[in-house]
Amino acid sequence: MPAAAVKRIVQVFNHLTRCKRPQGRFNRFLIKDREKIFGILKKQLSLNIIDVKDTFGRICKLVINLNNSADARFPDSGESCVMGIRYDAWLRLHLPVPLPKELENFVPIVGKKHTAVCSKGDLHFHLRGDSSMCYDMAHTVSDGLKPVAISTEEIHGFRYWDARSILGFVDGTENPHEQERAIFGLVGNDDPVYKGGSYLFVQKYIHDLNAFEKLSTEEQERVIGRYKMNDIEMPDNIKPSNSHIALTNVGDEFKIIRDNMPFGNISTNEMGTYFIAYASTFSTVKKMLNNMFIGSPKGNHDRLLDFSTPKTGTLFFVPTFDMLDDFSSS
Ligand code: HEM
Repeated sequence: MPAAAVKRIVQVFNHLTRCKRPQGRFNRFLIKDREKIFGILKKQLSLNIIDVKDTFGRICKLVINLNNSADARFPDSGESCVMGIRYDAWLRLHLPVPLPKELENFVPIVGKKHTAVCSKGDLHFHLRGDSSMCYDMAHTVSDGLKPVAISTEEIHGFRYWDARSILGFVDGTENPHEQERAIFGLVGNDDPVYKGGSYLFVQKYIHDLNAFEKLSTEEQERVIGRYKMNDIEMPDNIKPSNSHIALTNVGDEFKIIRDNMPFGNISTNEMGTYFIAYASTFSTVKKMLNNMFIGSPKGNHDRLLDFSTPKTGTLFFVPTFDMLDDFSSS
């Protein structure tokens, strides 16, 4: 990754890293973000296992170090570096078995009209902080991985107005708050070995903004299921069954933490949403994806997909800092 490419980044954060936790320190994505911009680096590992394992151990230590350092230097600002590991990479790195119960290679979800595609990438770094911080983190991580990995994707997101997606609707309203973030975002007692870790699912969506903007505001609201200006949910008797929120609300027991970020390049007309979800179980995310792509009932797909196409889709597991510490010394 050319260092010069990382000019902008984020600012988020974490008070929870200072609280008592069931198993080591939680990752900082649990903190509700207030960031402006963020960076994503996806890394594809090379095949020389000795070099790879060595480097990976150092990267685990580096991730802990980056978070500790951000915590000490800017305690209230919310910087973070979250690393996710994909199923194939987990095996190749000889990380502990059995694996996290729901870690798998994401398999495409094929609906009648739209498909949730799958894509590769061994490691995923979600960096949040201000521009300087993100630049430094991206540079350091990238340098550390240089001997064994190449960057396959890098997205720079930004906060768009009052937390709106590039489609103009507020994104994140129904996210869990406070203690609920740990309940829905972290693996619990069902998988004690991996308690405190998290499933991270990401998709890069490109929007057909021209088509979406041709709809009247009322029609756009029927696509999402909420009113655009005031972000109020439509009453059930008005909300269409194929609206985005009608299909992704799969019940109060099944929630995820979304940390979507808009991105855009005016000259190439590539405007999108980098969908980022952290969850205690991947099956919850899958339920939502099935509803969106296959439809509920079958065929009643999410109308948002008529204006948004996923170009990637990958599942990762985010270890706790204690797990990273173990990986670095094993
Ligand atoms: C193009 C990509 C996407 C965009 C632009 C988008 C945008 C939005 C917006 C504007 C809302 C309403 C406000 C809110 O509660 O956040 C929303 C809600 C939601 N979205 Fe998405 N979303 C996208 C993809 C997804 C995907 C792939 C999933 C699940 C796998 C998902 C899950 C949800 C959930 C669970 C809610 C809250 C539903 C509720 O309980 O009301 N979204 N999204």
